[in-house]
Amino acid sequence: MGYVDVVLGLQWGDEGKGRIVHYLSRDYDLVVRFQGGANAGHTVYIGGQKYVLHLIPTGILHDDVKVAIGAGVVVDPEVLKDEINFLNEMGIDVNGRWFVDPRATIVFPFHKKEDALFERKDGIGSTKRGIAPAYRDLYQRFGVRVGDIVNNKHLDRVLKKQLEFNNIILKHFGEKEIVEDDIKEWLLGFREFLAPVLRDVSLLVKDYISTGKRVLLEGAQGALLDVFFGNYPYVTSSHTVTGGALVGAGFGKEVVRRVYGVFKAYTTRVGKGPFPTELNDDTGEKIAELGEEYGATTGRRRRVGWLDIPLLRYSMWLCGVTHPLMTKLDVLEGLHMVKLATSYRINGGVYDVVTPTLYELEKVEPLYETFGPFEGIKNARKREEFAPEVKRYISKIEELIGMPVEGISTGKESDLI
Ligand code: IMO
Ligand code: MG
Repeated sequence: MGYVDVVLGLQWGDEGKGRIVHYLSRDYDLVVRFQGGANAGHTVYIGGQKYVLHLIPTGILHDDVKVAIGAGVVVDPEVLKDEINFLNEMGIDVNGRWFVDPRATIVFPFHKKEDALFERKDGIGSTKRGIAPAYRDLYQRFGVRVGDIVNNKHLDRVLKKQLEFNNIILKHFGEKEIVEDDIKEWLLGFREFLAPVLRDVSLLVKDYISTGKRVLLEGAQGALLDVFFGNYPYVTSSHTVTGGALVGAGFGKEVVRRVYGVFKAYTTRVGKGPFPTELNDDTGEKIAELGEEYGATTGRRRRVGWLDIPLLRYSMWLCGVTHPLMTKLDVLEGLHMVKLATSYRINGGVYDVVTPTLYELEKVEPLYETFGPFEGIKNARKREEFAPEVKRYISKIEELIGMPVEGISTGKESDLI
C-alpha cells in the first residue's frame, strides 16, 4: 500500500510550503492541491531561477512527478493557463502530468471584481483573487464547477443562477452587469484546455495508493487563516488544516501517514488581523528585507514578528502535526537578539496555548525569552555548525512544542538539516 503525506502551513501563510513541497516531492509520485486557489504564491528556487506557482502544485518542477488540483480548490482558468504556458516556456514538459478534478469550482472574472469591491468597502486585506466570492457561490449552491465546461445543458442552468445573483451585487456597486453569452464564451474558451485534464482526483489518489505509490498534499495558506479556526473574519475562505486536506482531495484518514507542519523561524502576516508578536521597528524592517518578505501573489510587504509558540502549539494541534519543519532560519543570521514568545499574559493569567479568537488575541501580551547572537546558520550542513544560542533557540522550541523539529532550512536551495 502507498500512503498520503500532507504539508501544511502553521502560521498565516508564506511559511515556505512551496520550497518544502519541492524538496520533499522527489520522493513522491503525485502532488495534490486540495483547497484555496490563486491566492497562494508558492516560491521555489532551482539553480538560482525563481518559480512562483499559484495553482499548479510545485511538484510539477520534478519531471517524474504528476500533479493534481482537487475538488476543494477554486480554479481561475486564466491563471492556470498562464501558469502552464510559463512552465512550457521554462522548458518544463507538463504534458500528461497535470489533472484537475471536475468538481473544483471556477473563479470568474466577476468574482475577482467583487473581491476588490468588497475589499474597498470593508477590506480585510484579501489577495483580490476572487477566493471568498467563489467559495460563497459554491456554498450557496450555484457555483460553476470545472466539469460543467463539458456539459452544455447543465452549464446554461448554473450560469443563469450564478449571474442572477452576481448582477444584483454588481448593480449595487454601480458596476456594469454581466451578459450571460459573454461569460459563457469566456468560459468555453477554456474547454479545449481543460477537458483533457479532467480527472476524478479522489479516485486518482486511490489508484496511486493501491498500487504502492506515494502522494503528497500541498496545503496553501496556513492554519491560522482557516475559516473556522483562524482569527475570523481575518481568514481565508477554506480549510487549511488536515481535515481540509481529507475533504478537499477526497479520502479518509487511514491513508494519511505523516503531517508535515511548516513554520518560519519568525512570523509574518499579510493583510489585516491581530498579530501579538509583530515588530514595528528597525528589527522588523531588517528581517523583512533579509527575508524578502514581499507577497508572492500581491507584492505587498508582509508584516513581521517573532516566532509565537502559543499560536504554533494551537496550529500543531489543529493539524495533528507529526513532523514539524522550520524554514528561513538563515534570515535571522547576524541578529544580536532574537526573541521567542513562549506564553501569553491575558488579564493577569499566563497561558501557553490560546484559542485565537479576535477578542483574545487583541488583548494578549506575549512573554518572551531572549536569544542571541545568531551565527553560523547560512547554508550550514549540520546543526552542530550553528552558534550555541541558535542551538539553544531550537532546543527551546522543541521543548515547548513537545517534539523534535524534523528539518530546518538554512538557505533558499539548501537541503533540510
Ligand atoms: P500561501 O499559500 C499569506 C491572506 C490574505 C488575507 C486573507 C484573506 O502563499 O501561503 P483571500 O484572498 O484568501 O480571501 O485573503 O488571507 N492570504 C495569504 N497570506 N499567504 C497566502 O498563501 C495567503 N492566501 C491568502 O493576505 O489576509
Ligand atoms: Mg505565499
